[in-house]
Amino acid sequence: MKKNSGTIPPAFATLLQQRLTRRRLLEAGVAMTPLALNSSLLLSPSNASAKPVATLGFRPIAASAADAVVLPDNYDYDIVARWGDSMFAATPDLDTSKLASGVLIGKDAAANQARQFGFNCDAIHFFPLDRNGHRGILCVNNEYVTHELVHASAGSTVLEFVAMHPQSVAFAKAAQGVSVIEIVREQGTWKTVKNSRLNRRITADTPIDVGGPARGAALMKTRADPTGTRVLGTLANCAGGETPWGTYLTAEENIQDYFGNLERLRRQQDSARVIDAHSRFRMGRRTSLYAWETVDPRFDLSQEPNEPFRFGWIVEIDPTDPQRAPIKRTALGRFAHEGASPVIAKNGRLAVYMGDDDKFEFIYKFVSSAVYDAKHRAANRDLLDSGTLYAARFDANGKGEWLPLVYDERGLLNATAGFNDQAEVLIKARAAAHLLGATPMDRPEDVEANPVTGRIYIACTRNENRTAEPAKSNYAGRVLDTGPDAANPRGANPWGHIIEVRETDDDHTALSFSWEVFLLAGDPAGGRLVTDLSDIQPGKIDSATVYYGGYARVSELSPIGSPDNIGFDAAGNLWIVSDGAQPHNNNNGCWVCPTSGPDRGKLQQFLSAPVGAEVCGCQFSPDGETLFISIQHPGEGGSVESPKSHWPDGPGKQPRPSVIAIKKKGGGVIGT
Ligand code: FEO
Ligand code: CA
Ligand code: CA
Ligand code: CA
Repeated sequence: MKKNSGTIPPAFATLLQQRLTRRRLLEAGVAMTPLALNSSLLLSPSNASAKPVATLGFRPIAASAADAVVLPDNYDYDIVARWGDSMFAATPDLDTSKLASGVLIGKDAAANQARQFGFNCDAIHFFPLDRNGHRGILCVNNEYVTHELVHASAGSTVLEFVAMHPQSVAFAKAAQGVSVIEIVREQGTWKTVKNSRLNRRITADTPIDVGGPARGAALMKTRADPTGTRVLGTLANCAGGETPWGTYLTAEENIQDYFGNLERLRRQQDSARVIDAHSRFRMGRRTSLYAWETVDPRFDLSQEPNEPFRFGWIVEIDPTDPQRAPIKRTALGRFAHEGASPVIAKNGRLAVYMGDDDKFEFIYKFVSSAVYDAKHRAANRDLLDSGTLYAARFDANGKGEWLPLVYDERGLLNATAGFNDQAEVLIKARAAAHLLGATPMDRPEDVEANPVTGRIYIACTRNENRTAEPAKSNYAGRVLDTGPDAANPRGANPWGHIIEVRETDDDHTALSFSWEVFLLAGDPAGGRLVTDLSDIQPGKIDSATVYYGGYARVSELSPIGSPDNIGFDAAGNLWIVSDGAQPHNNNNGCWVCPTSGPDRGKLQQFLSAPVGAEVCGCQFSPDGETLFISIQHPGEGGSVESPKSHWPDGPGKQPRPSVIAIKKKGGGVIGT
């Protein structure tokens, strides 16, 4: 954990501007050669694809319930950053032995936390600063604060605790958002660079600009910001993405947990336009999950009814420019954004794939109006402000359509249905997609493009509310059929599944696609492994039915549940990390499988997480020799007084969410 003060390579900005990781080159395909021509630092696409790619070759681990990060033989890991590690020399590290005595309600807690690594690390993206990728910037989301894991005597309710200790809200605001931190690899070990000029915390109070069609819209205006152009903070930052021009995209997900008093607002005014939108997001009818509204009126719907419209966006951050305000990119729509995965299409435009993580929500794609300019980084600065947002409809015949969320589309998205303009279509993207007939999915999490094949993979984590038979039900402010369909075939769906999409003509700007189920998660050995897609009939399969891309040898497959974030190595193998229930009550983990060839779907477990933790991230270093992983909320279900995990600091210590760097002993590409 030793930190060293580092210096910044003088040409880093230029390097960052010019560099493309191997992954991005492959994503971009051969059509985008111009960038590669002017720098010897860059792999050319032909080099990238000619490089021999080794096949998977590790010995899979068994599922585990141990309070440890378990890896295959000849792999180990370093801790890169733990919650509370200071990013600046003048700020002390958090001493977790003082949690029990209430250090986080002390007078310095919030100010210190705003300069320390945040809580509940989630997405990780690595932006190289040098030619070999041994120095770079990590952008890490800090999703939320698990109340009982940080405060002693946490009280019977969060509301009671906040009433006693209102200053705890300032700490919580400082502990989430994004941690931007420079890291360097020395003698094979990644270390953070304390005091780097690039180190930066973005919190729930950081000023953030608004870009795109909803900038200045009526629903974006509040008393504190009558222009609707500048928001304080980003919240609930779950997964993310990175653009080809080297900026970070952070996704605002479970924003409904931060806003309370919807019932009081309903008694005050009958603005269906506002209240229906908040109901569609399941905003707190009374107290919110975190009770911030009792301390800060902007989280009280009865005082600032428009404040929630300023959250639920994709936020773009330039990791090379700590002075530049992040920007909420409203053209990408407002919903519970899991992540955002940009891909350069054959025609040079940028497609961004996104999931809305709630039960019965949708898959989205944004396509930019302008083309990506590989030669001029600044030309792409506002590329994400203009374009078309689509939602996906999956048809039973294995085809699908991207439905444009455009004002007055099909005569539906207009004032009659509560949309006064394009800004309102984007602010209420869920309602717009529902009207157009998008397919409600089983909690869409990460959506990622395979860099080798261009196919899109969608992780649907699970959906306990999916019914076995067609049934009308009210969920999140609208009535829908909760029964199974071809793309969500299991009711209930306790283990989740993954869909594979092929865009028409492999064009990421296409308006139609074909699709199939790639994975029905669960326990192959204890259930019924099917190998033919025709065996997956909606309503005719149950949670014991599993499908692993057609792979047939049960004894070689690992059980898996709750797929969440996904990623790809340079060979196009699919890496999956999980958040939630696992077969046989084992811990969350990380798995990998090929997506093509004879081993398609041969999913094997690579990592098991400590007790109570979910696993997030799944980011490779450019050379493929490091896998960065977030271990989020180890010890969940326990408390400061009764910890259920002691990872990573060992016996007697409080658990801490941390980013780890996994490597092969002696070096080599991860997984091979
Ligand atoms: Fe924050 Fe959808 O996981
Ligand atoms: Ca989480
Ligand atoms: Ca997630
Ligand atoms: Ca999740």
